[in-house]
Amino acid sequence: MARRKIIAGNWKMNKTPSEAKALVELLAPLVKDADAEVVYCVPAIDIVPVAEAIKGSNVQLGAENISDQDAGAFTGEISADMLLDAGVKYVIIGHSERRQYYKEDDAFLNRKVLKALEKGLTPILCCGETLEQREAGVTLDWIRLQIKSDLQGVTAEQAASMVIAYEPIWAIGTGKTATSDQAEEVCKAIRDTITDIYDSDTAEKIRIQYGGSMKPANCKELLAKPDIDGGLIGGAALKADFAEIVNYNK
Ligand code: PGA
Repeated sequence: MARRKIIAGNWKMNKTPSEAKALVELLAPLVKDADAEVVYCVPAIDIVPVAEAIKGSNVQLGAENISDQDAGAFTGEISADMLLDAGVKYVIIGHSERRQYYKEDDAFLNRKVLKALEKGLTPILCCGETLEQREAGVTLDWIRLQIKSDLQGVTAEQAASMVIAYEPIWAIGTGKTATSDQAEEVCKAIRDTITDIYDSDTAEKIRIQYGGSMKPANCKELLAKPDIDGGLIGGAALKADFAEIVNYNK
């Protein structure tokens, strides 16, 4: 069974609610005929207005973070139930910016993955190496470690429904893209890791994205690789470029 491509925008900390609405309106006619699944992962405050603005369209809604807890005294956090009630389907977990700036470690991220899955949200689990790690030749070992740690306790059926985003940290927001061969090598290693943990059936079903300065000029080559099932797009998701990526095959 062929995996459907999934192109997700990661808006990060950009767009006020009114700006978010304007961006959705700009993109709506441009993405409407996409063959790929289209997702906007938006800041918490934009979730409700964007949910309203994408109603009846082919766009799915994603969040950029989730609490590992159900409810209660966790000031500033947002629960899975809140996201679900607002119409969210996907949630980015373990983006390198959260790992780096907010010290989210694999044990914590594993709890978030389990919470999202338990509640019926689909994690977009991010992993990636630093430039130092790449130059030291430990990229694949590091990625395997991240994936194995973050998927502790996740069943094969749950894993099959997930999305994993490979995002080399040195390529995020830098304009430096991994070559399509470099990206494919790691995405294939991730799929092989899923075979090791579970089985080949699960590995065939899970979708693996590349992220890191993906743009109209490089997306075709990246998305042509057999183990790259989509993209997680930062900077280019905030403008009409996003639609060109979504329509990479047209
Ligand atoms: P970028 O960000 O496309 O701006 O490099 C990707 C990401 O961080 O998800």
